[in-house]
Amino acid sequence: MTTRQRLDVDLGDRSYPIFIGPDLLSDESLFSPYIRGSQVMIVSNETVAPLYLEQMQQLLPAKQLASVVLPDGESFKNLDTLNQIFDGLLEQRHNRTTTLIALGGGVVGDMTGFAAASYQRGVDFIQVPTTLLSQVDSSVGGKTGVNHRLGKNMIGAFHQPQAVVIDTNTLNTLPDNELSAGLAEVIKYGLILEPQFLTWLENNMGALLGRDPQMLAEAIKRSCETKAKVVAEDEKEAGKRALLNLGHTFGHAIETHAGYGEWLHGEAVAAGTVLAAQLSERLGWISSADVDRTRRVLEAANLPLAPPAGMSVEDFIDLMAVDKKVIDGQLRLILLKSLGDAVVTSDFSEAMLRDTLSDAIS
Ligand code: NAD
Ligand code: GLY
Repeated sequence: MTTRQRLDVDLGDRSYPIFIGPDLLSDESLFSPYIRGSQVMIVSNETVAPLYLEQMQQLLPAKQLASVVLPDGESFKNLDTLNQIFDGLLEQRHNRTTTLIALGGGVVGDMTGFAAASYQRGVDFIQVPTTLLSQVDSSVGGKTGVNHRLGKNMIGAFHQPQAVVIDTNTLNTLPDNELSAGLAEVIKYGLILEPQFLTWLENNMGALLGRDPQMLAEAIKRSCETKAKVVAEDEKEAGKRALLNLGHTFGHAIETHAGYGEWLHGEAVAAGTVLAAQLSERLGWISSADVDRTRRVLEAANLPLAPPAGMSVEDFIDLMAVDKKVIDGQLRLILLKSLGDAVVTSDFSEAMLRDTLSDAIS
């Protein structure tokens, strides 16, 4: 039997709990204490709503409930779709004590969080992540936002949720490729900060792909522990939090170039992580055996290891220049000093970056 766990994100008076376990969407006591008014707006999408919206609605009978069902997909993570949430809130006359509930994956979570950050200058929200990726990463830490045609996640705000409720049963309906995409972010924690967790993942990847509930709950817990610790130390990404972006600058370039939704976020992060490892090797920081190990664990999770055919070095260089980690025109990347020890650095030449990209593309 998988038991329930509670972790806490320690942010002073904005601290909040993360609940992890099966059947949590049947437990009203995990929600009510975090809803201060009578109004609740559940935001979901057209894939997740038919699966879990009714269960969520039945859980909160005492509340004045409304819901908005958005179109599904990364290509809808934009300001136009965000307006559908504001339309619903205003039409139903939701006031400043309303609570939004994000019921879905990272796209719904990021958009609902941004709606909560900006509606009437800020209202409460609760994350109910239903993909592995959103359970291990996007629902925790308060990064919210939408994409712009010219760059991913370029418009947004930091806004922490009141609680994160991770019902691991929701993973039962998740497609296999989405499970793998989530594993890319799980592997990331091992590579940047937790070498023992990396070994654990290598030893248990078969069970994770086979959806062993105990193993998945353990992977979620260990990922959330690491993320909560990093966020508590550096909420607004002045330093250490940037480590959570291993592979993401390359990955965002892949996502933007392919067209949002063509490559899953986790897939793009996986290919980007290999590039980051290869550049780290070129700098003499890690060995070719380390790069092989990185590739093997990602491959074992059924993730892509190479950028899409047709993407040129210039495409990467142009798109990476839009990254949020660029300061004064200087690109910074997350690279590996060893497996389990990452740094944020601009300590590489453009020629090295170009050679790494060129080798990966050919
Ligand atoms: P997603 O939200 O698009 O969900 C993936 C797919 O799974 C969608 O089609 C969705 O409808 C479907 N789905 C969701 N739950 C399901 C379930 N239980 N059963 C069946 N289908 C289900 O993608 P994602 O991978 O969850 O999130 C990716 C997004 O998260 C990206 O936009 C990325 O930028 C963002 N992100 C944000 C942060 C952050 O810190 N805020 C961190 C990482 C990623
Ligand atoms: N996913 C990166 C972060 O939350 O900072």
